Amino acid sequence: DWANVPAAPLDPILGMSQRFQADTDPRKVNVSIGAYRTDEGKPLVLNCVKKAEKIILDNTTLNKEYLPQRGDVTYAALCQKMLFGEDSQLLKDGLVATAQTLSGTGALRLGAEFVKRYAPGTAVYISSPTWGTHNSIMDQAGVPYKPYQYWDKENRNLNLAGMLDDLKAAPDGSIIMLHAAAHNPTGVDPTKDQWDQIMEVCKAKGHVCWFDSAYQGFATGCLEKDAYALRKFAENGLPLFVSQSFAKNFGLYGERVGTFSLTCGSSDTVKSVMSQMDIIIRNLYSNPPKHGANIVKTVLSDPELYQEWRDELLAMSVRIQDMRKVLFDELIRLETPGSWKHVTDQIGMFSFTGLTPEQSKAMVEKHHIYMLGNGRVSMAGVTSGNVKYIAAAIDDVVRN
Ligand code: PLP
Ligand code: LMR
Repeated sequence: DWANVPAAPLDPILGMSQRFQADTDPRKVNVSIGAYRTDEGKPLVLNCVKKAEKIILDNTTLNKEYLPQRGDVTYAALCQKMLFGEDSQLLKDGLVATAQTLSGTGALRLGAEFVKRYAPGTAVYISSPTWGTHNSIMDQAGVPYKPYQYWDKENRNLNLAGMLDDLKAAPDGSIIMLHAAAHNPTGVDPTKDQWDQIMEVCKAKGHVCWFDSAYQGFATGCLEKDAYALRKFAENGLPLFVSQSFAKNFGLYGERVGTFSLTCGSSDTVKSVMSQMDIIIRNLYSNPPKHGANIVKTVLSDPELYQEWRDELLAMSVRIQDMRKVLFDELIRLETPGSWKHVTDQIGMFSFTGLTPEQSKAMVEKHHIYMLGNGRVSMAGVTSGNVKYIAAAIDDVVRN
């Protein structure tokens, strides 16, 4: 009767949103999940997405037939350009294998399944800390994984020396998971010079670099700038995996739109790799859904919609940056003990506040502000309406 099945704990991120939903306190705030909110605290469907959906609805040539296992190939080609750049030599030479996936998570899982089959026993090195699902996906897929140092807690900055040491100590040909831009949860990315140093070590060691691109456009507001590291590594001939998500930058969270790519040595290899991806996908979920990919395809291939999307993406990232400034100013005004400069220095959707697990717990239990136990606050959920309340609560838990 399945009495042997134990109840599982709530997911550390999604579980917080469930607890938020169940809370009846009118002051409650959800800054746990990385999901963009308008300044009115509402989810946002981008205008370019609404327009694309109208075009799709009116397009009488579209139907609801299955896609191939690898997904929509026109969509995949547009996604490749967004990642690697219009002028990418790799793309010109046809050396990138790309499959449509169930958002970024599906891309990570597909990549893990590929590693399990074609690089068995090779460990994936993952930053410490990271988005927790990186570790659990590898775990559930049966792929070995190990942490590398990333965070300098004392200086709230990148521990470059520790990171490079760990990358050097990893066996040659290891797989290194890198956050392409807007590191989750720390909000601290390597500088260009630091990326170059990371690249040199990875190149010398023959590591495969796995760029997880879930926030392209959210770190700097610019798609090209947020692809700096990936493109630099690609130009320098490092073997790459890329997982791509359109959840955040298109606001297509629930539509599950993404890609998984890997670079190959020849276009024949690309064909073989794609044929194997087809088999893996066939046995996981057969083929991906169409609607979200159609939206992204429509926007990326229409110059006017593309520009509108870029403007809307910039507006989202600017609102988040504005909220960083307001939260910082408010903490200074309250003379909250400690230094808060990191709130404005960090980039992307999150602020890694430095609140301890106990303080983070008090934020939830005493103030009904749902944030993660590791001190991460989603700045995308901070609004003009709740920022003062959040600052006052931080002030309270820091003092008590
Ligand atoms: N990778 C990172 C670092 C993330 O923060 C996320 C969350 O959005 C993802 C991947 C994938 O998320 P999704 O499966 O919703 O695209
Ligand atoms: C987050 O870290 O909050 C997001 O990436 C959403 C998720 O799926 O965890």
